[in-house]
Amino acid sequence: MKILVVGSGGREHALCWAIAKSPRCGKLYCAPGNAGIAAIAKCVPLDAMDIDGIVRFAAENKISLVVVGPEGPLVAGLVDRLEAAGIRAFGPRANAAALEGSKGFMKDLCEKYAIPTAEFQRFDEPAAAKEYIRRKGAPIVVKADGLAAGKGVILCRNELEAYAAVDHIMVERAFGGAGDEVIVEEFLTGEEASFFALVDGVRAVPLVSAQDHKAAYDGDEGPNTGGMGAYSPAPVVTAAIAKTVMNTIITPTIEGMAAEGCAYKGVLFAGLMIDKGVPKLLEYNVRFGDPECQPLMLRLKSDLLEALLACADGSLDKVTLDWHSDAALTVVMAAKGYPGVYEKGSEIRGLAAANAVEGVTVFHAGTKAADDTIIANGGRVLNVTARGKTVAEAQKRAYKAVDAIDWPDGFCRRDIGWRALKR
Ligand code: AMP
Ligand code: GLY
Repeated sequence: MKILVVGSGGREHALCWAIAKSPRCGKLYCAPGNAGIAAIAKCVPLDAMDIDGIVRFAAENKISLVVVGPEGPLVAGLVDRLEAAGIRAFGPRANAAALEGSKGFMKDLCEKYAIPTAEFQRFDEPAAAKEYIRRKGAPIVVKADGLAAGKGVILCRNELEAYAAVDHIMVERAFGGAGDEVIVEEFLTGEEASFFALVDGVRAVPLVSAQDHKAAYDGDEGPNTGGMGAYSPAPVVTAAIAKTVMNTIITPTIEGMAAEGCAYKGVLFAGLMIDKGVPKLLEYNVRFGDPECQPLMLRLKSDLLEALLACADGSLDKVTLDWHSDAALTVVMAAKGYPGVYEKGSEIRGLAAANAVEGVTVFHAGTKAADDTIIANGGRVLNVTARGKTVAEAQKRAYKAVDAIDWPDGFCRRDIGWRALKR
């Protein structure tokens, strides 16, 4: 069958790589893809947000399944539009993608269905938000309600920072309409983890555990990014904690969403804060994590395409997921300056040598092919991913591959996996 993956990051390269291994995968397309994806799929020059263009392409080419990577098109209703055109899609409809598209929606659902999360209140005008902050004190967290490219969460050490955050979002409108409302919530402490489950509307099947590294520099210092590395398994998520997450967070969410008339299907990504063995929900994302998806795909033994089809068809009861028992780890190589200002266009060499390191697969993110060379074309550029018997071995192999890459304009963290190694 013909498959179309939507997106252009390392996540989509890893999804294409896993889907291409399925015996049921015939022709594989990716819109718009990148230079790495082009080696295993036919890249189609359509932006991930070009909903009309993607629906038209899928209809004209008789695509059997569209797999949507990023949140933007999901929140904008790509799956609704595909289904209306009779095209099967993996991912939630817009009313369910609201779990990521509106933090207020997600928090109200938690309240109604007693899902453990930070104590909060929603505000649509600044004075009331500030009054609440005055009453609660700091530290405290101020969040824009809507999508803000990962920048809409402001952690405030004192009340003055929190008032400024409210003004930044609601008065200066730093994130436009995403800041029509703010959520002010309790500051949670503990260790974070990324928890994923495949969902078919009524059932959820958890994936193995993962953890990412959001800060730009070693030691978790510097500005927050989309993620500078990830690994699986994450020892903080014990079997007992995974069970608690399913029972207290994922299952009530799936049931609550169905009861609200917005049944969830696709992959549900819970950002967790785990404190003294108790997991709380920080946020929901309605997609695979990037870069968490990359180590997960390396560990997945089962046929990914079968599982994605089962989510779309409501038949997850027929699927069990098998995993390699070893570990996998991804080091993100980014352009110098990321997540701030960075340049594009520098040449990357040594990719073949990196891919030749035992256990290593280099997934591309922001890359472009120019003549016979690969050039940097984004902030996060390469995801050097390795399997190993342990996180330590996967880390060693990943950095060996990083060192084989000749790209003076890039940088990476040198400590990906440190929390697992410290244990
Ligand atoms: P997001 O941009 O929604 O992915 O959130 C970014 C990060 O903000 C999370 O990964 C946490 O590190 C942090 N964060 C969000 N909410 C809270 C909270 N209530 N308490 C402490 N940290 C938080
Ligand atoms: N790596 C975190 C995310 O994808 O949001």
